[in-house]
Amino acid sequence: MPNPPVPPQSVSPPAPAPAPAPAQPVYWDYLSLPGLLSQQGGLDGNPSPDELHFIIVHQAFELWFKLVLSQLRLARDHLAAAHLPEEQVPFVVHHLGRVNVILRHCVDQFAVMETLPPQDFLAFRDKLTPASGFQSFQLREMEILLGLKNEDRVAMGGIKPEAHIKNVGKSSPFDAFARLQAAQQEVSLRDALHAWLTRTPIQGSSVSDPGDEQAVDGFLAEYIERVQAHGEATLRGLVQALGEGERAKMEPRIKMTLDEARKFLLVEDWGLRRARAGLLFIESYRELPLLAWPRLLIDTVVELEEQMLLFRNRHARMVERVIGRRIGTGGSSGVEYLDKTTAYRTFPELWTVRSTLLPRTMLPALRRREKYGVE
Ligand code: HEM
Repeated sequence: MPNPPVPPQSVSPPAPAPAPAPAQPVYWDYLSLPGLLSQQGGLDGNPSPDELHFIIVHQAFELWFKLVLSQLRLARDHLAAAHLPEEQVPFVVHHLGRVNVILRHCVDQFAVMETLPPQDFLAFRDKLTPASGFQSFQLREMEILLGLKNEDRVAMGGIKPEAHIKNVGKSSPFDAFARLQAAQQEVSLRDALHAWLTRTPIQGSSVSDPGDEQAVDGFLAEYIERVQAHGEATLRGLVQALGEGERAKMEPRIKMTLDEARKFLLVEDWGLRRARAGLLFIESYRELPLLAWPRLLIDTVVELEEQMLLFRNRHARMVERVIGRRIGTGGSSGVEYLDKTTAYRTFPELWTVRSTLLPRTMLPALRRREKYGVE
């Protein structure tokens, strides 16, 4: 029998093995959780449950600080532009508003720290000396970005926070001081806000219009006259209600308000005077359609400063509850030092202007209404 015919050999290569399915993102890889969750060992890799609590609460704060820094920079970048189109003001308000929600959350977070009874803290406190929140370079960076000046800071044991970070940084491979120096080179939110306020149209006059200085000074002079008239009316009302005997006591107080308004609004430096006039104008005519977003922006910055102060105050009260009035691990006077920092004001004008505001019925009449979206 003849052999059966041999089938011709196939010339095409064997079918490739099916490619492995593309890796699906996994939650813990995306968030780098194995790394993140292995960073709570403290200095000796063996924290007690109370120390673990202490470390995690601090780390949670530092993560929030990281987000605050990124949001502040986004807002600042827009605000610092030479021209901020109307439709971008909501963007700035949005990012600063997020900072405010985070800070509010941080203020509440101190309640978690406070569950550490004093003696349980004392059990491990010496381990971390002289490390301290005083070395939180991210808080310092936040302060710098907001616009807090080094000369306005409270010193701790004669040393200002940035100099302290420079000193302790010498023994660390991580250069925290370089970060602070880089932040110092950036435009602060305070300076960006000032430049933006300077461009506010006042009684319809824009900063680039001929005769703008005259228009602004005319508005300020009229405003001051009305502050005086308001003060006189207030004094008459008080004397009527409390009796003529009160006049001598009340008159100097009313005069002080007027003097402060003059000092604040009639400041010699033209740039500063225009920025303050812009702020006063936005606050005074806040219901005008075209001032609606600017006034929200101002409100959001006021809240930001308020939240920073609440943060400082809440931290100080928590510290007082946990360590009383003893000195801090960083060597400061502790609560006494922390309470002094609650006097910080990065945006003092936003607070001062409030003492000069008038009832709507006493405001100078609005000119060139069409400029503000009013027909
Ligand atoms: C039991 C818990 C805590 C105690 C007893 C405590 C105590 C202190 C003390 C005494 C200071 C002054 C500097 C010093 O002498 O060390 C300080 C500064 C500081 N702490 Fe705390 N702290 C605690 C928790 C926290 C937490 C959870 C945070 C969150 C980040 C924090 C952030 C800071 C910051 C940023 C400073 C610098 C404040 C400034 O200079 O303006 N602390 N802390």
